[in-house]
Amino acid sequence: FQPKLLAGKRVLLTAGPTFEAIDPVRGITNLSSGKMGYAISRAAYEAGAQVTLVSGPVSLPCPVGVRRIAVTSALQMHATVHQQVAAHDVFIAVAAVADYRPAQVVEQKIKKRLQASPPSIELVANPDILGEVAALPSPPLCVGFAAESENLSEYAESKRRSKKIPLIVGNLIQDGFSGDCNTLILFDDDGAHPLPPAPKIDLARQLVARVALLLEKV
Ligand code: PMT
Repeated sequence: FQPKLLAGKRVLLTAGPTFEAIDPVRGITNLSSGKMGYAISRAAYEAGAQVTLVSGPVSLPCPVGVRRIAVTSALQMHATVHQQVAAHDVFIAVAAVADYRPAQVVEQKIKKRLQASPPSIELVANPDILGEVAALPSPPLCVGFAAESENLSEYAESKRRSKKIPLIVGNLIQDGFSGDCNTLILFDDDGAHPLPPAPKIDLARQLVARVALLLEKV
């Protein structure tokens, strides 16, 4: 039994990777199965929220009761989040968004030229979706994620400060990616709150409880 901690609330999430095309058959992407973000979508729905999930390319079914909008690139995710955000009370950015995309998408497949030197790809920065949402005049309660390979507390806290968000969820790359379990540390103004190793759905329910607590303080 899950208490309806988010009854009447509207939660917007991003999940999965983004895919930045180089040409019709190649691209740059990040690792993310979508499992963490999909688990949080499910937990938020179970807690009574109306849930919109903006999902990069993953092979997971849409959780029951959740409205999913499928996107591919960071620019599509950015545009979709901006279209949707005004109607939401909470924004949880779980996606592993590519920081850069090719400056140009080549229309035809790039042919391999023997003896020529390997081609180089010019990259441009993608917009910081979470940072922009947090800077809106009336932002929803913003929650970020940070996947790090070392110095988890320091790097997660520094992302929380730079994006000016009340809550960031830290996870280690070796724990967080692809599997069904994870280990999280929640960082907010009250300090660090470690959530021991558990299935992603259990951790998602604990995160939802923390979000509900923060909403009470807003
Ligand atoms: O999908 P799984 O296999 O279950 O794995 C889950 C996960 C490890 C991908 C997830 O738990 C996680 O940590 N996601 C965030 C990955 C990350 O390190 O993001 P970041 O440090 O690049 O970005 C920090 C925050 O800003 C994130 O909330 C991200 O969604 C957001 N961001 C980043 C860049 C960008 N251009 N726009 C953003 O909104």
